[in-house]
Amino acid sequence: MTVFYSPSNIALVKYWGKRDPQLNLPTNSSLSLSLGQLGTYTEALFSDEDELIFNGERLNSESAFYQKVFQFADLFYQHTLFKNNRPKLTIKTKNTIPTASGLASSASGFSALTLALNDCFQTHLSHQQLSILARQGSGSACRSLWTGFVKWEKGQQSDGSDCHGVPLESHWTDLRIGILKVSLAEKSVSSRNGMNHTVSTSPLYEVWAKTAENDLKIIENAIKNQDFQTLGQTAEGNALAMHATMISARPALCYWQAQTLDYLHYLWRLRADGLNAYATIDAGANVKLLFLNQEVEAIKSAFPDILMVQPYELPSVHHGIL
Ligand code: PMV
Repeated sequence: MTVFYSPSNIALVKYWGKRDPQLNLPTNSSLSLSLGQLGTYTEALFSDEDELIFNGERLNSESAFYQKVFQFADLFYQHTLFKNNRPKLTIKTKNTIPTASGLASSASGFSALTLALNDCFQTHLSHQQLSILARQGSGSACRSLWTGFVKWEKGQQSDGSDCHGVPLESHWTDLRIGILKVSLAEKSVSSRNGMNHTVSTSPLYEVWAKTAENDLKIIENAIKNQDFQTLGQTAEGNALAMHATMISARPALCYWQAQTLDYLHYLWRLRADGLNAYATIDAGANVKLLFLNQEVEAIKSAFPDILMVQPYELPSVHHGIL
């Protein structure tokens, strides 16, 4: 019995739009940085009946989360063992992501679940194959199989066999991420629905795909050269371009709240005065900052409520954790 851990991740070049909604095949490649200690622990064991223990509590089989988890276990089993009768499982899972951070946990959740199922079913898959499976649980989960920078190759094949995460060799341990909570409410439009609506109605969507591919090249180079300015500017521009596609969808989709914009204006003022930090925003109202270790004190004094993350610092995994 082994407990597996996956960190969540933040995209610096976002995934926004699917060319195949069934298989979660994206329109554009994306690139993320892991979230260190913020992630998910999971263990899967054979059992007499399916049960899901989430953060110490047994979930009702009617709950949407329970159904998602066991549908994914079925998918994993059928794809790897080609049989229909999956053995019953007890799955225990726990998030280290504080509910109060407003961060979603599906990326680390499906990644850790994939690792745990691979162990339980003894399928011995490579990380690349596991990434392909995790992608089908939640797109961004395919980038959570590794620590550090991970590129998600959009691939060409219609079966998604070349569409998975690829870890970059570069380690940039001075990078920091800060999370600024704006809202804890569950978003009214899921990222899945938000993407589909944007793809089918936004006049800016065509431009998005090209912009993202271009940003990806720039960010990959910035990572190689450890050029923080270029990394930050490009990541911030990419996130805002993604939100522009949503705002221009018909009807408009805007995940921001007034405080989201207040944080952006505040950051831009501080940056004009010399603070070296940039923002990124996912499909929600919360703001994440990117900065270097040397700015930590300045960031803390400007944003006293910020949750600091060291992308490369993983928690230790021990058996009693679940
Ligand atoms: O993986 P999903 O379906 O939760 O979609 C993630 C979408 C964004 O967070 C907005 C962007 C990304 O690349 O993580």
